[in-house]
Amino acid sequence: MLSADLDDILEDVFERVSKSRIFKNRDVLMPDFLPNRLPHREEQIRKVASVLAQALKGYRPNNLFLYGLTGTGKTAVVKLVTKKLSEKARERGVRLKVAFVNTKRDDTPYRVLSKLLENIGFRVPPTGIATAQLYANFKRLLDKRDLLLIIVLDEIDYHVKKHGDDLLYKLTRINEELRNSKVSIIGITNDVNFTSWLDPRVKSSLSEEELVFPPYTAPQLEDILRDRAQMAFEDEALEEGVIPFCAALAARERGDARKALDLLRVAGELAEREGRNKVTTEHVKKAWEQIEKDRVIEVVRSLPLHSKLILLAIAKLTKDGTVTYTGEVYKLYKEFTSDLGIETLTLRRVSDLIGELDMLGLISTQVVSRGKRGMTRVINLESDYKSVIKGLKDDPRVAEIAGLI
Ligand SMILES: Nc1ncnc2c1ncn2[C@@H]1O[C@H](COP(=O)(O)OP(=O)(O)OP(=O)(O)O)[C@@H](O)[C@H]1O
Ligand SMILES: [Mg+2]
Repeated sequence: MLSADLDDILEDVFERVSKSRIFKNRDVLMPDFLPNRLPHREEQIRKVASVLAQALKGYRPNNLFLYGLTGTGKTAVVKLVTKKLSEKARERGVRLKVAFVNTKRDDTPYRVLSKLLENIGFRVPPTGIATAQLYANFKRLLDKRDLLLIIVLDEIDYHVKKHGDDLLYKLTRINEELRNSKVSIIGITNDVNFTSWLDPRVKSSLSEEELVFPPYTAPQLEDILRDRAQMAFEDEALEEGVIPFCAALAARERGDARKALDLLRVAGELAEREGRNKVTTEHVKKAWEQIEKDRVIEVVRSLPLHSKLILLAIAKLTKDGTVTYTGEVYKLYKEFTSDLGIETLTLRRVSDLIGELDMLGLISTQVVSRGKRGMTRVINLESDYKSVIKGLKDDPRVAEIAGLI
């Protein structure tokens, strides 16, 4: 490309984006922004606050277990209430600390304990200490601190599914061994079946108090979006109908406020990129498609190798719009594994993995009868073909056999 062309292109893009008057403060629509108000979560805020308020009187608050689907405000409510509680405690001279650990990010017992130690002022090297020793250190140092420590274990299912409930068991018992400090635990999950992973004793101590976060309805999402849009957008930047449309789409997605906010932000960004001064429902539609594609790419990327190969087989077999069957998929999958020189999973296992791909919404399957020959599964690619291939391509092993390089 000639450099003059490049200059023209950049000039054009910069000009368009800087001319556009869409956002006043785009940051308030970003996922990590913590608003000061959370409409339609008054009841949950009240409950969390009333459990934790014991801390201000020097008592150990009951452990608290929160669950609800994704994007229902669990993390936001806990962050907001613990922030205010910490401020109050400081004012009143109460020795209180809140340790927030996201166990999706810090999943191993080692990392969880390192985070906890960090929170009470001790740095831990990334490896090199036995976990049992780390736990003993945590207990000893915490007791020296003479503190009330509220431990928030967010997305707690990630830790427990990978490493069991050992650490959780220890933490729910730790008060029996502390003399000066006290510990309360807040567990958060969006996995409705999470407690089946827990030993009954851990389950009952963790859920001294329980709280459910229901999905938001469309009108509730509208309120949430309006509240945020006032801070995020210039006056008049949103065409009428944009907020209700975002809310309706996100309500269909099981009342997910994160999805609703993402939609509004991406719609705004698209309008900005076009150099417009108004966000329209057309932008929301495009934003929806883009978010869905990004989600598919992300999900595909994080699949294990065999699932990727199965998905590749399904994508190839259904490319021209036809459906396929378990047997066909298995045959092609077998070719892929032999090309790669890796083991081939059994048909039964592959069948299970096909079921998992269905659960993830990447494909759809339907069991149909073939008369005397028994039952079979009709399989369809449910997600955008190009996005699936894009996600698969990121894995060099898959890219190679698919001839995608
Ligand atoms: N009532 C509300 N008012 C304003 N914003 C909200 C409200 N509920 C949620 N949000 C916003 O929606 C997004 C998702 O909320 P949050 O992270 O609390 O969900 P979550 O229940 O923790 O979901 P997950 O289970 O996926 O972690 C955040 O950006 C949050 O600020
Ligand atoms: Mg959360």
